[in-house]
Amino acid sequence: MSKIGIIGAMELEVETLKAQMKVEKKTVKAGMEFFEGTLDAANVVVVRCGIGKVNAGICVQILVDLFDVTHIINTGVAGSLNPKLDIGEIIVSKDVIHHDVDVRVFGYPLGEVPQLGCREFIADEKMVELALEACKEVNPDLPTTTGRIVSGDQFISSNDVKNYLIENFAADCAEMEGASIAHAAYLNKVPFVVIRAISDKADGSAEMDYPTFEREAAHHCAEITKCFVQKL
Ligand code: ADE
Repeated sequence: MSKIGIIGAMELEVETLKAQMKVEKKTVKAGMEFFEGTLDAANVVVVRCGIGKVNAGICVQILVDLFDVTHIINTGVAGSLNPKLDIGEIIVSKDVIHHDVDVRVFGYPLGEVPQLGCREFIADEKMVELALEACKEVNPDLPTTTGRIVSGDQFISSNDVKNYLIENFAADCAEMEGASIAHAAYLNKVPFVVIRAISDKADGSAEMDYPTFEREAAHHCAEITKCFVQKL
């Protein structure tokens, strides 16, 4: 039987799921509240990890150690780096990379953590397929992309940084947790996928667009996640 860890960085990324689930137990660890229970027919643990890569990595380790999760999903919002990926649209991760890791001086490719043996964390193929199915079911008219997500402890809001991420990583969107979640899932051999709704264009307009669209985008992503976990 699957037990699915669902992580959002912010409250608005998990509040829809928490409101709709039947909570059996709440556990607090590392300042994070883990809600264990069911979302319709699915066994889930829903948690807000807080913003950024350290929170995200710690959260995955707790989900693995204390809750024995079989799958990990990261739901939330992201800034688009792909002109074809508009605000409100959904991206499902094909792979995820740390954009703020740079040990090129010792011969490692930009984004690769030394001695780990990989730069890209590949999302679970089956989870990607089912997530795409869920996207179509929840919102048949909305375009959905599978692509590359990059993460760093940085809100991207300038054309210069945006172009750097596009040129160096050929990335489709940027956010602040996915790569750590993927990295920790990889170390623990737990399958993962990241599903994000676009809240801004990660450029000069991002600080205006983000507060306007984040709530709607986050809730939409949570609805897809709810549909998706029924399929796992
Ligand atoms: N999450 C949503 N928009 C983002 C951006 N522009 N940069 C980083 N994380 C984000």
